[in-house]
Amino acid sequence: MAEVVIVPDAASAGALVADEIVSLITADPEVVLGLATGSTPLPVYQALRERLAGVDVSRVRGFALDEYVGIDPGHPESYRNVIRREVVEPLGLDPERIHVPNGALATIEHAGADYERAIAAAGGVELQILGIGTDGHIGFNEPGSSFASATRVKTLTEQTRHDNARFFDSIDQVPMHCITQGLGTILRARHLVLLAFGEGKAEAVAGAVEGPVTASLPGSAIQLHPRVSVVVDEAAASRLRFADYYRYTWENKPAWQGL
Ligand code: F6R
Repeated sequence: MAEVVIVPDAASAGALVADEIVSLITADPEVVLGLATGSTPLPVYQALRERLAGVDVSRVRGFALDEYVGIDPGHPESYRNVIRREVVEPLGLDPERIHVPNGALATIEHAGADYERAIAAAGGVELQILGIGTDGHIGFNEPGSSFASATRVKTLTEQTRHDNARFFDSIDQVPMHCITQGLGTILRARHLVLLAFGEGKAEAVAGAVEGPVTASLPGSAIQLHPRVSVVVDEAAASRLRFADYYRYTWENKPAWQGL
């Protein structure tokens, strides 16, 4: 079962996860991090800014989860640009070592296989940050995605395009297709850290953590992984049946175990 940590707010979640990431970087300056975009991981990146001042991050490596297909590379909401703006530049990472799936149409047929090879060549992802969509997607693995899937092109659901329209001028500008790490790819990371905040995520979180393991709710794939931390605020935890047990477990967790 995933470890569920219920925190008072997004900033506390960011601090908790950032502390874990700093420990990893300190232990291995070439650590491979799995990066997510969207609003959810921003408190983690924010907390890392203060914590990484003075830490040598020049050899840290990273792989983002996904990218829109065919988006203008100069578009501020292309995930390549989001990762550069929110992660690479503020944290002082080496842009050559931080990878985002290539959504360019000219090379899209082999972009998924190329990305899988690059992750494997780096030795795999140590800690993968995940958000979750209101329809239960992780990465952009929409309902129905195979648990064995690798990085490939997917069609975004109308719900996801609607949810992401806030980053664009209108829903018509939200691309129809994306390239995303598969559920199989995500499950190969050695530690999954899924974050969620707000009431709107409560149903997806409950389904992912406690619901049946089903491709209809791709986030439920986390139940197949041996090391998962789900870090949520009270609102996102509000539909969890065993919330009291998760609180009790966290309060009584031996300090040496970390996240
Ligand atoms: C982003 C990603 C998506 C988001 C999800 C939630 O790289 O893979 O799964 O994590 O759509 O988005 P936010 O965080 O904006 O609610």
